[in-house]
Amino acid sequence: MSGGRRRPLVAGNWKMNLLQAEAAVWCRALRSDLPTSKAAVGVAVFPSFPLLPVVARELTGSSIAVGGQDLHPAEKGAHTGDVSGAQLADAGCTWVLCGHSERRRDHGESDELVGRKAAAALRHGLTPLICLGETRDERQAGRTFEVLERQLRAALAPLDSRPVGFALAYEPVWAIGTGETATPEIAQEAHAFLRRLLAGLEGVGPAAEGLSLLYGGSVTPDSAPGLIAQADIDGFLVGGASLDPRNFLAIIRGSG
Ligand code: 13P
Repeated sequence: MSGGRRRPLVAGNWKMNLLQAEAAVWCRALRSDLPTSKAAVGVAVFPSFPLLPVVARELTGSSIAVGGQDLHPAEKGAHTGDVSGAQLADAGCTWVLCGHSERRRDHGESDELVGRKAAAALRHGLTPLICLGETRDERQAGRTFEVLERQLRAALAPLDSRPVGFALAYEPVWAIGTGETATPEIAQEAHAFLRRLLAGLEGVGPAAEGLSLLYGGSVTPDSAPGLIAQADIDGFLVGGASLDPRNFLAIIRGSG
């Protein structure tokens, strides 16, 4: 457990998967099986944009939050293929991912752009879940903490007075979709580093103790309990294992 200080959050990132009918089935399965006794665990789901209306409709009245996988930093305008914070909020989102490593890789998103996206999210009342993490080469070169610090400082730089309405997901790139989950010790070390860094930032300070730091990267029902037992791991951002509601539920159950 996360020291009893922070409510665990388990979030599913569907990435570019599922069609509307499958998404509806997923939502019904999760709603019917989500144990009310586990309300101590927050749950969120991040579907692709075209699925947001069906997911928001299916989850109406539930405690499961909905988020977008990305947003454009501008309010609106000539940005073909992009989605604004206002559009996400209008579609029922309360969260949005910022800076997922697949956005950084596939779309060349810079640290600086991730910060502007997080700021746009906050302007629209969305909680940014800022994703960061080192590649395998960076870890092997002993640069993990340097990379995390650079990514974190850039992501928070445009956030006026650094309001604490954000969450972080530590997702080591080498653990994403590889089946190679970070060990609890490796993940805890990174989370503790990030929390210490946050605590030292002007505008965050002691509030760092209350911020949610999720782990992502090949999380499974088997690996979740050992990870959530770490002092600074407050939940998960789950990719592949979130597509099957039974696996996702098992991870939720293992996090409470
Ligand atoms: P996997 O759980 O499939 O490794 O994906 C992790 C992830 O990228 C979540 O955002």
